[in-house]
Amino acid sequence: MRIDIFSFFVLIFISSVDTIDDECYLTVPEIGKRYGYESEVHLVRTKDEYILELHRFPCRNSGIEIQMYFKYSTSSSEKCDKTSKRPIVFMQHGLLADGFSWIPNLANESAGFVFADAGFDVWISNSRGTPASQKHIGYGPENQKFWNFTWQQMSEFDLTASIEYVLGQTKQEFVYYLGHSQGTMMMFARLAEDREFSRKIRHFHALAPVATVSHIGGLFGLFGKQFLTYAEVILGRLPYSPLSIPRTVQKVISYMCSKFLMQNICTLDIGFIDGSEKMFNQSRVGVYLCHTPAATSVKDLQHWIQLVGSQKVAKFDYGVNGNMVEYGQPTPPVYDLTQIDTPTYLYWSRDDILADTQDIRDSILSKMNKTIAASIELPHYSHMDFVFGIKAAIDLYPGIIKTIQDDYDKHRISRMHKLRQFS
Ligand SMILES: *[C@@H]1O[C@H](CO)[C@@H](O)[C@H](O)[C@H]1NC(C)=O
Ligand SMILES: *[C@@H]1O[C@H](CO)[C@@H](O)[C@H](O)[C@H]1NC(C)=O
Ligand SMILES: *[C@@H]1O[C@H](CO)[C@@H](O)[C@H](O)[C@H]1NC(C)=O
Ligand SMILES: *[C@@H]1O[C@H](CO)[C@@H](O)[C@H](O)[C@H]1NC(C)=O
Repeated sequence: MRIDIFSFFVLIFISSVDTIDDECYLTVPEIGKRYGYESEVHLVRTKDEYILELHRFPCRNSGIEIQMYFKYSTSSSEKCDKTSKRPIVFMQHGLLADGFSWIPNLANESAGFVFADAGFDVWISNSRGTPASQKHIGYGPENQKFWNFTWQQMSEFDLTASIEYVLGQTKQEFVYYLGHSQGTMMMFARLAEDREFSRKIRHFHALAPVATVSHIGGLFGLFGKQFLTYAEVILGRLPYSPLSIPRTVQKVISYMCSKFLMQNICTLDIGFIDGSEKMFNQSRVGVYLCHTPAATSVKDLQHWIQLVGSQKVAKFDYGVNGNMVEYGQPTPPVYDLTQIDTPTYLYWSRDDILADTQDIRDSILSKMNKTIAASIELPHYSHMDFVFGIKAAIDLYPGIIKTIQDDYDKHRISRMHKLRQFS
């Protein structure tokens, strides 16, 4: 038997370390509880039988001044009424991330908490393959079949099942969708294909939007362009496996990165993939790295690499023969973004090397110009700053909150008028 020296030292190291931040070990609902937010866990079954966990923050923080924040409570003195009609905000994370994306910082700095405090009913999704959603009716994550998916299936099955579930639970007609990165791609694809579904999305707020990725930078750019062939050879060998870092290793990285002086090196590390991050809370980098990267499938990354090469927004390419079997045509079908008519708000930055400005112009603005409600540039935001940046609660979320509140008020008033006409 081979003694795994590395694991041995890791274990010694871990057991001697008691200063790893507790939030490392906590789930989204547990972190919520720590900050004073009531939470619910809901299980959703997709059409292809994955079981996903949805996390809900139905109430504001119990310590927050009511009049100021809790706009949609019927009376300002009442306790949180989960059944009261309030706008739903559905939050969808990006690639190699999970629901933690929305609560990485203090309560006044994290989207999940800030929106809950503003009186919204917050629902946070966890895509298939992430730690909270590694379940399937027929088999577990140890089976190769489990990892046979990309964002295409997250879009087709996870989004539809989750949003239908939320509407069923709350008896509402629509949600306001907040997506980051891959979470925007999933929605672009869904809206382009599914007219019925698009009625359930009142607004689409796209943070760091990605559709085509032909101008992408960072590690993806390298893989996609110069190293496309190498990447395909490497990834092609293990098509049906998870893409993740072992939990122990992730904790060691996280611990070292929480130490003074290591932090810059560690953010540079995330930076290599995503572009340098400027607005992180440096003393929380260890916590970020405990939860990110979260697991996904190797096939998902393969799909992204295909798009860098093809410069299209297309379904997974199985090769000519495979495509004939899968799609009945030699090339993978392309999503037609001109079909989208959901009001869409884009939030982007010139300093984001993943959601490149040229790509946004070419593939989103030009195709969706009739339905883009606003296109807003953020100053010096890197790709992860839209969710991890502590300034997003100042520059970004208040505008979205105001836009949604105004729209929801308009909706309520017009509904009241309609009701009055009938009575
Ligand atoms: C959030 O609150 C903390 C402490 O209460 C404060 O230091 C920080 O600056 C606040 N952040 C923002 C974005 O207002
Ligand atoms: C993965 O999915 C594709 C497309 O649906 C299918 O053709 C293939 O047989 C699946 N592979 C495995 C190992 O399940
Ligand atoms: C950064 O995170 C630390 C640890 O969680 C916290 O004490 C500090 O207030 C945060 N700083 C800001 C500016 O939010
Ligand atoms: C939208 O884009 C198309 C094609 O680029 C252009 O012909 C059209 O004038 C644009 N419409 C608006 C409202 O900007």
